[in-house]
Amino acid sequence: MNQDSPVASHIARQVAKRRTFAIISHPDAGKTTLTEKLLLFGGAIQMAGTVKARKSGKYATSDWLEVEKQRGISVASSVMQFGYDDCVINLLDTPGHKDFSEDTYRVLTAVDAAVMVVDAAKGVEEQTIKLLEVCRLRNTPIITFINKMDREVRDPLELLDEIESVLKLHCAPVTWPIGMGKRFHGVYHLINDEVLRFAPGEEKAGQDFETLRGAQIEALREQNPMEFETMDGEIELVRGAGAAFHLEDFLAGKQSPVFFGSGINNFGVREVLRALVDWAPSPIAREAVTANGEVRQVEPDEPAFTGFVFKIQANMDPNHRDRIAFFRVCSGQYTPGMKVKQRRTNKEMKIANAVVFMANERTRMEEAYAGDIIGIHNHGQLQIGDVLTEGELLTYKGIPYFAPDMFSKARLRDPLKSKQLQKGLRELGEEGAIQVFAPLVDSSLLMGAVGQLQFEVVEHRLKAEYGVDAVFERSGIHTARWVTCDDAAHLAEFVKAQQMRLARDVDDNLVYLADNHVNLSLAMERWPKVKFHNTREHGQQL
Ligand code: G4P
Repeated sequence: MNQDSPVASHIARQVAKRRTFAIISHPDAGKTTLTEKLLLFGGAIQMAGTVKARKSGKYATSDWLEVEKQRGISVASSVMQFGYDDCVINLLDTPGHKDFSEDTYRVLTAVDAAVMVVDAAKGVEEQTIKLLEVCRLRNTPIITFINKMDREVRDPLELLDEIESVLKLHCAPVTWPIGMGKRFHGVYHLINDEVLRFAPGEEKAGQDFETLRGAQIEALREQNPMEFETMDGEIELVRGAGAAFHLEDFLAGKQSPVFFGSGINNFGVREVLRALVDWAPSPIAREAVTANGEVRQVEPDEPAFTGFVFKIQANMDPNHRDRIAFFRVCSGQYTPGMKVKQRRTNKEMKIANAVVFMANERTRMEEAYAGDIIGIHNHGQLQIGDVLTEGELLTYKGIPYFAPDMFSKARLRDPLKSKQLQKGLRELGEEGAIQVFAPLVDSSLLMGAVGQLQFEVVEHRLKAEYGVDAVFERSGIHTARWVTCDDAAHLAEFVKAQQMRLARDVDDNLVYLADNHVNLSLAMERWPKVKFHNTREHGQQL
């Protein structure tokens, strides 16, 4: 594009400032604590405890729904924008394990980088593995923060080894711990050749820890010879293994810079923030499919506004189908009142009331650029994956549905409500709250989710918004795969033989439902020409 035009260079300058990321971790590794400290650095909150108080993972489900009902609270905490060192940082929340849902996955399609928090006492845990798999789909650059060094933890070399072998992610340590637990003295910065001295104390937020160089480091070494000796040996091994940081490998999602610290003590947090500002990418071009089926890269500084919906949040008001669609801007500039086209319906709509999310409030969005997340109020017109543009009709790739691994059937308490149930499930399915499957040989609908909370939310919303009182019963299905086959006759044969196990999803795609993994593997062996997919794109007909 013409970089000389004032509009173009204004947009390009704004885009270059943006950093949009999520924190991924297993529950209890320290995500909330780190979020809070990052917000303190950014000046977005003044007091520790603000985020923690609303940490949804700590609520029981019933409380969570209550919290959800107090509009805004969970919505506002889902995206946080703050400034740091001339950058505009968008931090997207990925909910903890109790409310683990497809949303968690989809949030990762809207970020340009991720910070992975690992509990140094526990190492790589299950949820981190799942979330990292999703990051890998788009080669998202990952910064690693090894947390809780103020405790007695595992050997740092062993932790790196585990990240490399379990997550298949090369590690490039940027800082290295000097001791741990009661004898944790700080970290050595491998690139800057300095020591950041640790001093415990939660209220250090925003203050600098002491930085030691040259003779100061030697003085600390004399006081703590054992910890330094261990560190020297470890660093020698790390350097010998050639694990130096390479920006290109990080940006390609192949190598992760690793920082050690203690979130609760605010120690090592600034280094993570610096890595985000200095190394994490500003929004890059995204692949889209044009109206005539061609694939093209949409540059973030193109003047025409485009973006996509990656999450829908219901406001839980039983009288209104009032929703907030979380929209990731991919190019151009948002201005209040602008008219856009919705790709799926080909209709024009006006975005008059978009909101931006600050740490504990939402305010009217005045302008937004690629990388920013805006909240668009709507009454059910917007669905996940929907693309809005200033004219050109395009579809963004890479907003997937994941094969669910939990399945339920809804049984009505009042059989006369069957129509409302079908309507409710269809609409909630379209919205992305849950996946809905219609078995080929059975008239009841099956729901699939990746987290139990999705069922509980749907049960609650069916009652509140559709007046349907239904009991959700676990089904015997274990997993699902979308199926395709290039050979139509072969597919017809497969459908005939397997119809008891087949269903259609909201976009009419064929889905194979398996009771267990053995059952799935047997089907895959028996029907080698049929392809079994564990993800599919939104709005995509396979
Ligand atoms: P999460 O969002 O990933 O689930 O984790 P969260 O930040 O809530 O942290 C989980 C627990 O780990 C909390 O303790 C928190 O205080 C503690 N923690 C976080 N960072 C550090 C650290 O650097 N060092 C130590 N020693 N602990 C840390 P909790 O007892 O569950 O909660 P709370 O009573 O402290 O709020």
